[in-house]
Amino acid sequence: MELKDRDGLARICKFRGVETPALMPVINPNLIVLSPREMREKFGVAAIITNSYIIWKNKELREKALKEGLHKMLDFDGLIMTDSGTFQSYVYGDVEVRNREIVKFQREIGSDIGTILDVFTEPDFSEEEVKNAIEETARRGEEAKKYCGNMLLAGPVQGSIYPHLREYAAKKMSGIGFDYYPIGGVVPLLENYRYAEVVEAIIHAKMHLNPSKPVHLFGGGHPMFFPFAVILGVDFFDSAAYVKYARDERLLFPYGTRRLEELKYPPYYSPILERYSIEEIKEMSKEEKIRVLAEHNLYISLEEIIRIKQAIYEESLWEYVETRAREHPQLLKAYYKILEYGKWLEKFESISKKSGFFYTGKESLRRPIVLRLKKRLRRFQRGGIIISVPRPWSNYLERIPRNARVRTPFGLIPLELEDIYPVQQSEFPWEERMDIPENFEEISQKEFDLRKIRAIADYQFGKGAGHALFSGNLRLIKSKNTGKIRNVVVDGEHVASLRAEDGFFTLRIHGAVRLHRYFKFPKFRVVVNEDSAEFNRQGRNVFAKFIIDMDENLRPGDEAIIVDSRDNILAVGRTLMNRVEALSFEKGMCVKVREGIDKPKSGLLKD
Ligand code: GUN
Repeated sequence: MELKDRDGLARICKFRGVETPALMPVINPNLIVLSPREMREKFGVAAIITNSYIIWKNKELREKALKEGLHKMLDFDGLIMTDSGTFQSYVYGDVEVRNREIVKFQREIGSDIGTILDVFTEPDFSEEEVKNAIEETARRGEEAKKYCGNMLLAGPVQGSIYPHLREYAAKKMSGIGFDYYPIGGVVPLLENYRYAEVVEAIIHAKMHLNPSKPVHLFGGGHPMFFPFAVILGVDFFDSAAYVKYARDERLLFPYGTRRLEELKYPPYYSPILERYSIEEIKEMSKEEKIRVLAEHNLYISLEEIIRIKQAIYEESLWEYVETRAREHPQLLKAYYKILEYGKWLEKFESISKKSGFFYTGKESLRRPIVLRLKKRLRRFQRGGIIISVPRPWSNYLERIPRNARVRTPFGLIPLELEDIYPVQQSEFPWEERMDIPENFEEISQKEFDLRKIRAIADYQFGKGAGHALFSGNLRLIKSKNTGKIRNVVVDGEHVASLRAEDGFFTLRIHGAVRLHRYFKFPKFRVVVNEDSAEFNRQGRNVFAKFIIDMDENLRPGDEAIIVDSRDNILAVGRTLMNRVEALSFEKGMCVKVREGIDKPKSGLLKD
């Protein structure tokens, strides 16, 4: 996987030519309603999934697949994943094939990603039954590795409704080492709207999976749940739903399902609903009806993936999930469940986002980025006057006591932190009031500026950072347009600039040197190997595969000091990943370097 864009755990990646999150439509080779070629050409589908057991069981299909290969047989040149028969075993009680045989068969027919014959863990299994199923799945996984050749191998993580067993399975499967990790055994939960339990299954699996490997939600084909899975780091879905629901004369929508007969005013359009009226569809023959409803359902599902990708790209997925959570009480319950894991999710949240913080309801104030804000504000425990003032606070500076704390929906915020994300970049449905005392002692602008840059540094880097960075002969360069601080020069050296968009500092190499001197290893460090060091000294970016270690407190978007294994400074830049990610990704950039120690650049921010 190569990371392209992210919003917390949600990510847009490239995997074998496919951009994720992606939906793999299920193709039943016995019963093709929409052909793979049509899906590719009409819908832009880049990956499909089919069932190798169905092919294997049918003599004619089996021989054809062995002779022609899967891609030719299905007439599809994209990525093809195959499942193994586990689901048939769950539905019909048993299958006639053994793990070794079906894995070998998947390899022989040229599947791109093959799946082991895992043991499906049902929601009503006892803990002991689930544990045994996990052990047997792991044993089969070990066996499959001997037979998969060059085919990528999927190792499903089972665990039924037991979080500790989901973790056990994830650790066990990770230890064996697969290329791809589906989360299995969730179909009966999804079918019964038990979304909060699916959330738990995903989280407890993700916690122990290698973040550079794709995660697939097996059987998660209803678009209603897509955003909730993606925000937890799911990359792939498969959908038989598009055709199953079509057979049942039901239409999928992002908020739920409607029977054709119930539908009078379709709330979402698809090319099908543009071409035919509901009445016309009702009049169609059974076969024609299945075809057009399958097209509609697939279109709606793929569109939902596009909406989610745009939300990741603009970093507004939390808002999107919160609005979707209102579509069904069980989705709201699932969202509450997600919020219970805020502490873990915070590790993946960027320091700031392209989109402002939109409040959609009281749950918004429990998002991981707010938890971080509240935690870091504890560094600023102090007395001082509490006031209310509309934003931008700086418009009223001559009337405000300079050590004031301001009432906000996030809590009390020191005046100096007025510009940081999300304090400034947020929108709430309440009027901002003005309530400031008449008589107070004012401090000078100069003193306030110093307090401000030190407070932001303490918030961004930790207590003491403001002092470490900004002690000496200070010169603040301000914007001619806005009057805001843009650059901080200390003892003649450009140490840092303040970004207008999120109110945080970008470090220059002189700033990195100061922090490095003040904060002991591993604070803010990204340690690279010898192969990378020379390049980074020249100001070249850091690629994940060269990283040996990293400060576990660094978050995506944080400023980082690049060092060699002896803690010599090489460069300064901005991370795109946290520690677990940096240590597992093999492809792609991890730190965007701003300045190398051997090639200092001038970087004064102008207005
Ligand atoms: N399809 C839906 N659920 C599952 C599962 O748990 N395992 C496999 N192999 N396929 C599935």
